[in-house]
Amino acid sequence: MKRRARRWAVVPAAGRGERYGGRVPKQYERLLGRPVLSWALASLLAEPTIRAVVVALAPHDRRFARLDEAADPRVEACTGGDRRDVSVARALDALAGRARDEDWVLVHDAARPCLAASDLRALCAAVSGDPVGGLLASPVGDTLKQGDADGRSARTVTRDGLWRALTPQMFRYGLLKRALALCAERGRAVTDEASAVEMLGVRPMLVPGRGDNVKITVAADRELAAAILAARRGK
Ligand code: CTP
Ligand code: MG
Repeated sequence: MKRRARRWAVVPAAGRGERYGGRVPKQYERLLGRPVLSWALASLLAEPTIRAVVVALAPHDRRFARLDEAADPRVEACTGGDRRDVSVARALDALAGRARDEDWVLVHDAARPCLAASDLRALCAAVSGDPVGGLLASPVGDTLKQGDADGRSARTVTRDGLWRALTPQMFRYGLLKRALALCAERGRAVTDEASAVEMLGVRPMLVPGRGDNVKITVAADRELAAAILAARRGK
């Protein structure tokens, strides 16, 4: 009898947030009184089919243990690495012996606090029957420009077929491990799991998601994320 694939989650939270700046790493910045990482974790914990959430932390992180979500029995921590793909690979190692190759792993950025429950469900529903897996993504809406060294627009790039890669990204445990190992072997730094999976020669499914599933990258993104969360709370 075929075993049912189970679901696990990984949250890379070991970054330094260099583009954001700020006094505390951006994943601990507060939005409506709650750290960004808490919002990200709560959105995953709201999905009862996720068995455990492994959070990859920077060495000597002392803030994580103080989050309410750190006490949740489904949440555990590991030490991340100096690149995002290394942090994710370490979290996958923490699941060794529990996750089976055919199980699903959802990887969600610590810096994305606005994941809607409906998007998480849509991703799981779209990808569950797929051999490869996929990611939430949003079609590019703006006109795209190729800038030159003088800060001028050299040309317009067609946006046809272009998507913004969001998270969660959902892949089979065995396939994602192989993809990240290949990345490490080739010394290729990737900024999402789908890039690593593409290196295996397979094509992740693009699952249309909400454009307001924003990542906090620069300081101005904090206000945007706070406004999105406040608007939802008001509903
Ligand atoms: N991340 C990680 N380990 C790293 C680098 C990044 O776990 N070595 C995580 C970040 O904590 C974040 C997510 O990957 O949740 C997305 O990365 P990004 O937005 O680039 O965050 P930072 O790397 O922290 O920011 P920056 O690139 O501006 O330094
Ligand atoms: Mg980074």
